[in-house]
Amino acid sequence: MKHRRGSRPAAVPEPGPRGWPGRGRGSSTYVQAPDQWRATTVQACGLWPFAVGTGTPMTGVPLGRNLLSGATLCCDPISWFQRANLISNPSAFVLGKPGLGKSTVVRRMALGLAGYGVMPLVLGDLKPDYVDLVEAIGGQVIRLGRGRGYLNVLDPGEAVAAAARLTGDARSQVLADAHGRRHAIVAALITVMRSAPPTDREETVLDRALRVLDDTHEAARRGAPTLHDLLAVLRAAPEDVRAAALDRGDRTRYDDVTEDLEATLIGLTGGGRLGRIFAEPTTTPMRRDRPVVFDVSSIDDAQTDLQAAVLLACWSAGFGAISVGHALADAGLEPRRHYFVVLDELWRALRAGRGMVDRVDALTRLNRQRGVGMAMVSHTMSDLLALPSEEDRMKARGFVERSGMVICGGLPSAEMPMLTSAVPLTRAEQDLLVGWQDPPAWNPGVGAEAEPPGRGHFLVKVGGRPGIPVHVALTGVERELNDTNKLWHELSRSADDLPSPSATEDQIRG
Ligand SMILES: Nc1ncnc2c1ncn2[C@@H]1O[C@H](COP(=O)(O)OP(=O)(O)OP(=O)(O)O)[C@@H](O)[C@H]1O
Ligand SMILES: [Mg+2]
Repeated sequence: MKHRRGSRPAAVPEPGPRGWPGRGRGSSTYVQAPDQWRATTVQACGLWPFAVGTGTPMTGVPLGRNLLSGATLCCDPISWFQRANLISNPSAFVLGKPGLGKSTVVRRMALGLAGYGVMPLVLGDLKPDYVDLVEAIGGQVIRLGRGRGYLNVLDPGEAVAAAARLTGDARSQVLADAHGRRHAIVAALITVMRSAPPTDREETVLDRALRVLDDTHEAARRGAPTLHDLLAVLRAAPEDVRAAALDRGDRTRYDDVTEDLEATLIGLTGGGRLGRIFAEPTTTPMRRDRPVVFDVSSIDDAQTDLQAAVLLACWSAGFGAISVGHALADAGLEPRRHYFVVLDELWRALRAGRGMVDRVDALTRLNRQRGVGMAMVSHTMSDLLALPSEEDRMKARGFVERSGMVICGGLPSAEMPMLTSAVPLTRAEQDLLVGWQDPPAWNPGVGAEAEPPGRGHFLVKVGGRPGIPVHVALTGVERELNDTNKLWHELSRSADDLPSPSATEDQIRG
């Protein structure tokens, strides 16, 4: 078509400033979001040249979509430490108000890591939140509690069998480690029982008594020694133990020195406050080659002493098994296994008694050397800082400061000063977290509350870097496994549901 320079062809229609004139046309006040597709870079580049990268790390367990960009976020402490080099130690601390999905995000990580060949180890599930998952992936569920299952704290586990396969230093290290671990757990149980640690002399007596027990106990015939056997050694007063008690050849003096220790051991073996959970042969020995959960949910929350003692015993057994596994892998006798240790409901564990903070402190400092990734879950910083002694509070704050990544869900604004002192958060990030803890809307249509707005929303923070806001969407399978509100699905039985008095009478007569 030819036309003169400067003039416009009259035939070409153009929209005006308010869009096309006419019916059903015109301006739009709503800008529609463009459609988004995701594809691999190989395919997308051929279809569309303006593809953008995700901008979020893609190494590890797929967690969910970035709330701002929609990009996929893959994140778990082990992959970010081992493969992506994004964090300095393989641990994550998850904080958030109750019911917003903390355990759910840790379960997602555990499930994904199990797919990568990492063994999830839940050393003490107080709820239980992880039993269904571990069962579903073919793991081992160890139930502990009064009358439900025993965990013999003097059982060296697989250390003895492993030592038999090893030689030289490796062998003596495994045995020394098992001895130290058993000594430490008996001392810890005594601490819980008395609310005070054993004295130096008692520690030495205990150490000697354990050695005598190992030398004299016929494990092949009678199985692993128990606290009953330890008590018997203490009462038999062999020469070595008497020397450690400094009885100066006087049996009466020995009896005086060991009286308190004997009394505490009687309490531990004879069904005292802690029951007999630790004094009977182990019901289910822990396996190293499977995901494992210790289900301790049958222990009532009011029994804080027992909870503390059981958690300590689970940690001891779990980390004992891990170090045996590493010793065998070092010697080339077993494949190297990595573990993902979950300490959920950490605030309950820390409050459960003296010495718990030190235990967790020791575990969290060593996780890199021990080849374990760790996830710790708690509600708020104030929970951690509510511990009675200043020393414990400082240590508890250290758990958050030292973790490779901190994953925050909805939190109240009162938390922010404490949280920012441990993890730097910008004003915008703080507002985001405070917004996620808003109460759910009331839906009058169905007479029920909607989902809490912040459920499944988390901010992944690594050091001073900007946080990545992510929504964890559950898959259908997970939704069934993840239901921690199971007890609330059925409506309560009201008087109408109960059999009528006449029916009951008929039954009685019939
Ligand atoms: N991303 C999600 N999408 C949908 N439902 C979820 C999501 N996360 C959690 N839920 C549901 O919310 C409920 C509570 O989740 P969860 O037990 O993980 O919370 P929590 O933060 O660990 O709570 P608590 O502090 O009491 O341990 C569960 O029924 C779970 O199925
Ligand atoms: Mg939880």
